[in-house]
Amino acid sequence: MRSFHNKRVFVTGGASGIGLGIVKALAKRGAFVVIADLRPDHIDRALVEIREAGLANTVAALTLDVTDRAAFAAVAERMDIELGGIDILVNNAGVGVEGPVLEAGYADWDYGLGVNLGGVVNGLQSFLPRMIAHGRGGHVVNVSSLAAAVRMPANFAIYAAGKAAVLNLSENMREELAGKGIGMSVLCPAFVRSNIHEAALNRPAHLREGSGFANSEASLLERPPGNDWMDPETVGEIVAEGILAGRLHIVTHGEFRDKMRERNEALMDAVPQAAFQY
Ligand SMILES: NC(=O)c1ccc[n+]([C@@H]2O[C@H](COP(=O)([O-])OP(=O)(O)OC[C@H]3O[C@@H](n4cnc5c(N)ncnc54)[C@H](O)[C@@H]3O)[C@@H](O)[C@H]2O)c1
Repeated sequence: MRSFHNKRVFVTGGASGIGLGIVKALAKRGAFVVIADLRPDHIDRALVEIREAGLANTVAALTLDVTDRAAFAAVAERMDIELGGIDILVNNAGVGVEGPVLEAGYADWDYGLGVNLGGVVNGLQSFLPRMIAHGRGGHVVNVSSLAAAVRMPANFAIYAAGKAAVLNLSENMREELAGKGIGMSVLCPAFVRSNIHEAALNRPAHLREGSGFANSEASLLERPPGNDWMDPETVGEIVAEGILAGRLHIVTHGEFRDKMRERNEALMDAVPQAAFQY
């Protein structure tokens, strides 16, 4: 992809944090961007920021729960009818599901994996056939995390598992998509200033029952991101450059290099020198 001019972009979880940073970066560069988000309060706030940034004419918003497959399919159809389809899909919606994994109930697995992995799967299933059918090519950005590539404390096991799956599926789909003129990037950020600590507020009622994470999510709510964490608008700029450069891995933070190497070397150390004789 050479430019964002007149490109139509769909960003899940685009009303806050990293998603909103990406929305602004691409809208500023000439794209028409649709924000799809679960939270009407986030959408209202985001639209004020968008107006203040002078981008009101190039951004629209709708509510969508990325775990709702029927709603996702209906929205994809609507994008075909109203916009002639989309060119860039950003599967960004995610939740900071966090708690002691040995206390997790199925509700916690379903919540964490349902949004962080299932939401990406639903985005791909809803939009990819349509993006391929319109024949203009395009790009997909899946938002993973550095948690996918470094060893995390056990409280993040469900989060890391979902993010690792997103990293792997992005790597493994890339070649096939390239054959259809569609690029693939996977974003792996570390600490970014956002509302990721609001996992408790994004959890649907039916997944509160049977959760073992109520206490951890309540204390997470009291732990807002640090002021020195990366600005989401900086992430948006990095993503815009990454798409134009056709980068598969978009990594924002350099301070986890050693941890990442440690993890990769531990895996390599377990690999026998000799190949198996078939
Ligand atoms: N902030 C970080 O430090 C960080 C680090 C690595 C990865 N990430 C990832 O970045 C992505 C964006 O997170 P963020 O940090 O900007 O958090 P955020 O909470 O500020 O933004 C996420 C947005 O997704 C929306 N959302 C939540 N569940 C949804 C659902 N079911 N359907 C549709 N929208 C939903 C929320 O309303 C919110 O507006 C996530 O996938 C997150 O895991 C964040």
